[in-house]
Amino acid sequence: MRYTPDQDLYDLLLLADPSIEIVNSYINNNQIYTAIYNTKTLGVFVLFPVNKKVIEIKNIAVRSAYQNMGLGKHLLKKATAVARDKGFERLRIATGNSSIGQLALYQKEGFELIGTTQNFFTDNYPEPIFENGIQCKHLLLLEKEL
Ligand code: ACO
Ligand code: ACO
Repeated sequence: MRYTPDQDLYDLLLLADPSIEIVNSYINNNQIYTAIYNTKTLGVFVLFPVNKKVIEIKNIAVRSAYQNMGLGKHLLKKATAVARDKGFERLRIATGNSSIGQLALYQKEGFELIGTTQNFFTDNYPEPIFENGIQCKHLLLLEKEL
């Protein structure tokens, strides 16, 4: 079922993924988990089954003013618990070659690099993406055993 988040939630989802078309392609009501404090949505993650064994965190984001306080780590632990409870064997997450902090965080949370897709971001996103002074070109795929 197609799900349309409110603007506040969209803003958060677009922090992690700058393409609204791509965000729309993987969201539905059942797969969006939010962290709410005093009625304000501070964080979000989206879980998307890849096959019977693997489920993927398609999007994870924390509102800018609340980043680097441990909430992202908490969301990854929650996503791991949800995926395990649903009976999946592996949890997947993808990021870009320029996402230094995200790569550090995911590996600290037990994800291991399993592959790369060359030029994924230059081939699939209309605008160039830069982070940490680095162009985001290639996709890095990480997985964690559950
Ligand atoms: N080098 C080394 N470690 C780093 C670096 C760096 N440059 N940057 C961050 N880290 C580490 C921190 O030290 C910290 O680890 P520690 O607690 O062991 O010190 C960890 O990364 C950050 O942990 P949190 O505070 O829990 O993370 P945060 O609440 O900021 O959430 C998130 C992380 C979700 C990536 C957030 O920064 C965010 O929303 N960013 C913008 C959106 C985004 O990029 N989302 C991911 C896109 S990929 C996808 O969605 C599948
Ligand atoms: N997140 C984001 N950016 C980072 C991070 C981080 N966690 N850590 C460093 N950087 C960036 C800095 O911001 C800086 O970029 P900027 O100038 O655009 O801000 C850059 O990395 C560091 O640049 P320098 O100061 O020129 O690097 P330095 O003089 O420290 O030399 C080196 C780098 C050679 C890796 C040095 O730190 C070193 O000797 N380390 C120990 C030995 C080592 O690891 N060598 C490489 C092993 S692999 C090999 O030898 C092939």
